[in-house]
Amino acid sequence: MEKKTFYITTPIYYPSDKLHIGHSYTTVAADAMARFKRLTGYEVRFLTGTDEHGQKIERRAQAAGKDPQVFVDEIVDWIKKLWQIMDISYDDFIRTTEERHKRTVQKIFQRFYDQGDIYKAKYEGLYCTPCEAFWTERQVVDGNCPDCGRPVELVSEESYFFRMSKYVDRLLAHIEANPDFIQPASRKHEMINNFLKPGLADLCVSRTTFKWGIPVPFDSDHVIYVWLDALSNYITALGYLSEDDSLLQTFWPADVHLIGKEIVRFHTIYWPIFLMALGLELPKKVFGHGWLLLDDGKMSKSKGNVVDPTVLVERYGSDAIRYFLLREIPFGADGHFSEEALVQRINYDLANDLGNLLHRTLAMLKKYFAGRVPAPAEKDSADEELRRLAEALPGTLESLMDELQFSSALAEIWKFIARANKYIDEMSPWALAKAGRTERLQTVMYNLVESIRIVSVLLLPFMPKTPPRIWQQLGIADKVELQSWDSILSFGRLPAGVQTVPGEVLFPRLELTGEGGAPVRQATKKEKVQAQAEKPAAAEKKVKTEETGLLSIEEFARMDLRVAEILAAEPVAGADKLLKLQVDVGGERRQVVAGIAKYYSPEELPGKRVLLVANLKPAKLRGVLSEGMLLAATDDAGNVVLVTTEKPVNSGAKVK
Ligand code: ME8
Repeated sequence: MEKKTFYITTPIYYPSDKLHIGHSYTTVAADAMARFKRLTGYEVRFLTGTDEHGQKIERRAQAAGKDPQVFVDEIVDWIKKLWQIMDISYDDFIRTTEERHKRTVQKIFQRFYDQGDIYKAKYEGLYCTPCEAFWTERQVVDGNCPDCGRPVELVSEESYFFRMSKYVDRLLAHIEANPDFIQPASRKHEMINNFLKPGLADLCVSRTTFKWGIPVPFDSDHVIYVWLDALSNYITALGYLSEDDSLLQTFWPADVHLIGKEIVRFHTIYWPIFLMALGLELPKKVFGHGWLLLDDGKMSKSKGNVVDPTVLVERYGSDAIRYFLLREIPFGADGHFSEEALVQRINYDLANDLGNLLHRTLAMLKKYFAGRVPAPAEKDSADEELRRLAEALPGTLESLMDELQFSSALAEIWKFIARANKYIDEMSPWALAKAGRTERLQTVMYNLVESIRIVSVLLLPFMPKTPPRIWQQLGIADKVELQSWDSILSFGRLPAGVQTVPGEVLFPRLELTGEGGAPVRQATKKEKVQAQAEKPAAAEKKVKTEETGLLSIEEFARMDLRVAEILAAEPVAGADKLLKLQVDVGGERRQVVAGIAKYYSPEELPGKRVLLVANLKPAKLRGVLSEGMLLAATDDAGNVVLVTTEKPVNSGAKVK
């Protein structure tokens, strides 16, 4: 059978400055897509690179007192390192200063000239250097570039022009006939109504007032317009017009050009017209994604550390950053970036949902089966839903990814994670163990481990470092046959008998309480006890009761009651009534000791939202620090029942 191929590109980046986290957005998305297609059996070509010519770079190099080539070399090295630490699995990195590119761009220009698409004339008009874009009087807004808002310059020089007008009708017909060509659809309407329908002016494709570019082959006073130079990278990298164009034969037309919304015009008007002039097919899809914004506007490197991708990766790890970028913002829309939002995603989605599923499952497996995955035995209709959901996921993900809906794809995986967490609560393995229902317990534990394995494979394209860490703990790190896409198409491929090895926490919970708001791990038990011991004892105030013995409203108001989520529970050594609980109170972690061991087993507690007296003076019970008290009711028979909320409420919510 013929191998399915997939060609995906990112824009090539200007190495005029170091990149910020917004730039990584396109590349992380393209990488997730490339990995997804590889995983699902495609032969993938993933291209990225750098766009190194033009007046902007020349000026930046001059300002830095450097030769332009030296200037770009340094930044390109840095960009390559950045892609390495972000696990960007490109197959080729093209630089527009490479011979393979320059040679072909000159051939392309020559061909346009020879076939009459290019003519020489005088250009007088407006130019935005940061965008390297020409504008007409009608398009500029108060003397500023309509794209970036910076002042345009009047340029007057002899130039070569490309006859855009010749191809407009064909392009319009192509756009109409191929609804997928420009995505999202809103960008398509903008291109048609604002640029194509009003009529397209011929494009100036050479410059004479600076030197940093590819010379026009037959007129060395001119350098080729940087966008004609840059856009060609998508085919020069495949060997177009070279001795060996086998890559072009295999991979062209591109399946998708991923770009930011501000460069959709170049990719859906100029680029297709150049391709038509060359007699090449047009890319199947151009997707213009939205911008990653800071609360005070668009990103720029001058905004400092918060947007420096190397700093962020060092602080949070590349998988967490990748997860955030792909999950937080529906692809296509603008979205906001903040460290608070990132830390929330890490704590809720990665530490709580995913981390707890793995942790709870492996802890129970250790307790009930010495960590060895049991063979499923007694079945129940309740298992069917989990199985059905798992088996539907690969197909659902394939269609969402074909639409580049990264956020929805991740949401689907997380729905399944939530279902698996709920399956633990519903099946209550601790109760099965207590009741001696070993056969049923075997099935439940098997299903949980298998669910985690399926999740781990599905996560590969998005967070490539995490699945191998999960496989290590599942004991399947060396079993590649259990890490493939095929292996998750049906539920139950994990063989019984695998020895699991609970290991380090996948994603420690964080709080932004470090210096300058930097993230720190939430304090460990030991650190908390120490901090508590060092705190001066709070001045004790007696709650005055009125003579009636009733509390006044003010007295009641002194009590800080909060909703808390139980994260983990374990017995207290030597105290058969007590359980030591770790709870989350609106992002703050606390340890609480509760006398509920007779009524609850540690495994059934995580995930419950209970009520906590949060301002109770910390105390030590059997030598274990307790920072608060859980509310519980005692029925007539003396059974203790924890008080929970009637509907789901976020942890930390105040109760009064
Ligand atoms: O445009 N949010 O290069 P570039 C999301 N060299 N995406 C962002 C962003 C943000 N805050 N800031 C930048 C160029 N990007 C040309 C491309 S292709 C033949 C030539 C994205 O370095 C931006 O939208 O200015 C674009 O897709 C990419 O980073 C490179 O931008």
